[in-house]
Amino acid sequence: MTASLSRMFDTATLNAIHKEIAPHTDAPPAASWTLAGEGLWGCVFDLGDGTMLKVVRRHGGLGSGEALHHRESETLGFLGGFATGYVRVPALAAGGIFTNSYIGSAPPLAGWLRLAALEGKRLTTDKVLTMSASERDLLGERIGAAIVDFNAEASTRAAAAGTRLADTITRSLTLARAQLATAELHRAADAIAQAWETLRAAGPLVFVHGDLNPGNLIDAGPRAPLGFVDFAESGWSLAEAEFRHLEPLGPFRDSIFRGVTARRGQAPNMRAYYLAAAADALMTVAIQGNAGHPRDAMRRTGLLRHCLAGAEIGY
Ligand SMILES: Nc1ncnc2c1ncn2[C@@H]1O[C@H](COP(=O)(O)OP(=O)(O)O)[C@@H](O)[C@H]1O
Ligand SMILES: [Mg+2]
Repeated sequence: MTASLSRMFDTATLNAIHKEIAPHTDAPPAASWTLAGEGLWGCVFDLGDGTMLKVVRRHGGLGSGEALHHRESETLGFLGGFATGYVRVPALAAGGIFTNSYIGSAPPLAGWLRLAALEGKRLTTDKVLTMSASERDLLGERIGAAIVDFNAEASTRAAAAGTRLADTITRSLTLARAQLATAELHRAADAIAQAWETLRAAGPLVFVHGDLNPGNLIDAGPRAPLGFVDFAESGWSLAEAEFRHLEPLGPFRDSIFRGVTARRGQAPNMRAYYLAAAADALMTVAIQGNAGHPRDAMRRTGLLRHCLAGAEIGY
């Protein structure tokens, strides 16, 4: 794959981005960059020298690119590229915000980050749903252990840095609520938020990654720590916030819970878990609305109802 395959940036724009970051970091020329990922909020390039460049747009989904970029820069800064036996995070080499609103023909850009490249394969949801049961169980248990290690180490570092990055679930509920169209969905959002705040007040709070899904995990094999990337949703929350995307993954969720319980010696609180999953389902409804086939909308509403029932909230 070459950089020119980016749908977001043409060659002249990539050269203009290189020129913008050049005063701050000595990056190889754009001609040697390869595209590693392209999402709603921007692109990630492999610079070919053991580093990655993440370019974040100002506009994408719900919320602002500036806020996402700020959270990710701050978090990567105090995490300091740590590694335990089960988990590792990339070191931040450089980063900055874009003040120039006209960079080639790019959409408005918020900022950039240059990170150490983690070795290994990027996981995908398709991959985990189609692997054999024994492979999936092993991977899920490793992810569970990685999450427990991450929360412990990240909380120590976040507390030492004095970060005030806020609760991932509360934040996503606020964003979703502003977008939701019906009184029924507003009531659901308010009920989730209220129940979450009650549990949150009892604590304990940990520093969470906040956006764990297969696409944000990098697997270098069963004996290597799992790589976590993409810290734009991080913050102080209940540990169960870490599982907010897992409910649609079925048996994979269960193997992750087994790994968590084995490493932490304590099972997840299922009420808190279903509240986090309901907040996530509501976020998906807010972003995607009635888009796609009518059956897609039914599936989104079905997941929301299921999570609300799990959280013992009437709907
Ligand atoms: N430090 C890194 N090392 C290796 N690959 C990375 C790194 N950071 C990002 N990637 C790759 O780029 C993809 C997109 O990065 P990510 O930070 O998740 O951006 P997005 O916000 O678009 O999801 C990841 O799924 C991963 O494959
Ligand atoms: Mg990602």
